[in-house]
Amino acid sequence: MAGMNMAVKLNNGKEMPFIGLGTWQSPKDEVKAAVRAALDAGYRHIDTAYNYMNEDAIGEVLQEYIKSGKVKREELFIVTKLPMIHMDPKLVKRSIEISLKKLQLSYLDLYLIHLPIPLVYDGNDNNVFPLNEAGGWKAADKWDLLGTWKAMEELVDLGLTKSIGVSNFSISQVERICKVAKHKPVTNQVECHIYWPQKELFEACKKLGVTLTAYAPIGSPGRPERFKKADEPVALEDPIIKKIAKKYGKTPAQVLLRNLIQRGIIVIPKSVTPERIRSNIQVFDFSLSKDEMEDIDKIKTKRRYFDVAAMFKDHPERPW
Ligand SMILES: NC(=O)c1ccc[n+]([C@@H]2O[C@H](COP(=O)([O-])OP(=O)(O)OC[C@H]3O[C@@H](n4cnc5c(N)ncnc54)[C@H](OP(=O)(O)O)[C@@H]3O)[C@@H](O)[C@H]2O)c1
Repeated sequence: MAGMNMAVKLNNGKEMPFIGLGTWQSPKDEVKAAVRAALDAGYRHIDTAYNYMNEDAIGEVLQEYIKSGKVKREELFIVTKLPMIHMDPKLVKRSIEISLKKLQLSYLDLYLIHLPIPLVYDGNDNNVFPLNEAGGWKAADKWDLLGTWKAMEELVDLGLTKSIGVSNFSISQVERICKVAKHKPVTNQVECHIYWPQKELFEACKKLGVTLTAYAPIGSPGRPERFKKADEPVALEDPIIKKIAKKYGKTPAQVLLRNLIQRGIIVIPKSVTPERIRSNIQVFDFSLSKDEMEDIDKIKTKRRYFDVAAMFKDHPERPW
């Protein structure tokens, strides 16, 4: 593999760079410097979401780079996500238009359904995680995943996004969509790292022509405390990863990312630290041997860091 923008061919013929900059929990003031550092380092793929509340700051930097001629719009691969409060098919077009306006773009490269469960929309576009009395997320009474997908497909026909996809979807949910889709999902963005390798989901998606995008690819060490449990394994400190990193003179983060890319999985490491942003894309100048890939594959520890589905115990669209 060579070249920073090694790309995966999607089922609609478009190409998606293997590495993108993640931006969850990147506050507006910091995300600007992060996106500048990423574009300067050669990243062309940026992952954000309506829910991250930083699309406008990212948009400012994209505009700055496009206007100055440092990058062309066509070279960029910009991904954002439909919030759960806007999953009613009637709200989908308006939602992408809000995101596009903030991002200062006329089209997206990829638009994802953030999660398969709609939340109650109370008319407040900023109340993205409405809560119920028990303190959990307030799921909407009606849901119609295929209806939401149809509304997503219309966005492609309208030229508002080049590709559409899903996030946090189960095998059966991806299958249900693929069965009826006019425009198939190009990717399913899910938690994926050495302790949650998603083998079954990856294989099932592959059969359907759907790629996998790994969130938390280096183990999301900065996730909020509410997602942490005592004695959790830390991917960056895994002895096997550290040993391999030492051998190649690479960082543990680079080995974790290389492992996923070598499996054929797209990665979106998040950082607001310019030095880390630069180093996280330096993963195309070495490769892991078959034995090293197998050693990682054999790691017994299993841990899902983000059990978002637990918030929706009895919901029929609960993905896991
Ligand atoms: N679809 C979804 O539901 C969903 C859910 C979660 C995440 N995502 C997406 O996936 C992206 C990545 O996931 P994530 O942010 O949870 O986790 P991650 O990318 O695995 O980890 C990010 C954390 O690692 C640190 N870090 C980055 N590079 C490092 C390096 N080279 N060495 C040591 N530490 C390093 C970052 O710190 P600094 O920033 O301080 O450098 C940050 O705290 C998100 O940003 C978001 O775009 C999507």
